[in-house]
Amino acid sequence: MAARASKARRAFTGDATTARAMQAGKAAWWAASGLAARRLVRIDRGEGRPDVRSEAPPVSMAELRRAWLEAFAKDTADVEAGLYPYAEAPANPQRMFARLTDLFEDARAVDARRRRRAGTEARAEASSTAYPAYYRQNFHYQSGGWFTEASAQRYEAQVELLFSGAAGPMRRRALSLLARAWRDRDQRGLRVLDVACGSGAFLADLRASFPRALSLGLDLSRPYLKEARRRSGAAVVQANAERLPFADASLDAATCVYLFHELPPRVRPVVARELARVLKPGGVLAFADSAQAADAPGLKRLLDAFPALFHEPFFASYQEEDLPALFAEAGLRLEGHDSAFLTKALLLRKA
Ligand SMILES: C[S@@+](CC[C@H](N)C(=O)[O-])C[C@H]1O[C@@H](n2cnc3c(N)ncnc32)[C@H](O)[C@@H]1O
Repeated sequence: MAARASKARRAFTGDATTARAMQAGKAAWWAASGLAARRLVRIDRGEGRPDVRSEAPPVSMAELRRAWLEAFAKDTADVEAGLYPYAEAPANPQRMFARLTDLFEDARAVDARRRRRAGTEARAEASSTAYPAYYRQNFHYQSGGWFTEASAQRYEAQVELLFSGAAGPMRRRALSLLARAWRDRDQRGLRVLDVACGSGAFLADLRASFPRALSLGLDLSRPYLKEARRRSGAAVVQANAERLPFADASLDAATCVYLFHELPPRVRPVVARELARVLKPGGVLAFADSAQAADAPGLKRLLDAFPALFHEPFFASYQEEDLPALFAEAGLRLEGHDSAFLTKALLLRKA
């Protein structure tokens, strides 16, 4: 499916002071909502509670809070430095409450799935020939997997709830690396592809940050692409990241946010090679994904708990993946890195 750009939800674009104020409001809203959700669903109690095995010491709440605040501080510093604008859809209280009610209603279904360890129910929703087996699962125990409109509409709020409103600042570490790489370039006509764009939050950031470049989104999920198009206004294409429908050396940049921890180990090199293939010589990949325990030893216990808490079947092997070596084998050299909260970001360049 290739779709033309449609009218995006209008974003508010502001300076660092506005960004700080809006982020504080958003963070407070999602942190309070997260607290309420955790009270509603006590996943650590009762039958079927997750079996978390970790030798790592308990995570210090002070360290977690420090890392969370740092994500916001880095984001606003980049807005202040003019690297990218703060572009957010204005808060709509009616919509926010509706979204939250839906999340709370769905939270019980998610918890029931977690207690039954039912991570593959979504197979019933999706054809076995159209999608790889590893994809036909309920990642995060989410209702509908990647296959329903309700899932696509709920996803961004679920992520915000999980990270207490820091999802945008976390993803934007990749935006920061790309903005630095492109700072001195005439961006007219540059082409950037967001691979595994999901419901389009990062794609919307790309469009707002590089209005003269052509930003495109790609994902395997039709409902998520529909949401991405609505959110960002960008053109999107349905395809498997293992076979990108773009010519060799045809893109100036690619971005890839939170895909690799959801790929089996044998598929990661395939996607890395595809990303390298479609980049022009000198083109860059701005990558962001979960932190690895080696980067954040103090958070190791939390990272160890992720697969059991959120049905992440490939997360443990992702923790062991040597990402710079993986991309080097594909022809992409590590040029920069950054981190925020539970996220790491890398900038890689094709020779
Ligand atoms: C955790 S979500 C991340 C989405 C988005 N980048 C974000 O930051 O919210 C993973 C996304 O990867 C997509 N995905 C997983 N495997 C894929 C594949 N082989 N090809 C294309 N997309 C894939 C899923 O459909 C989903 O939208």
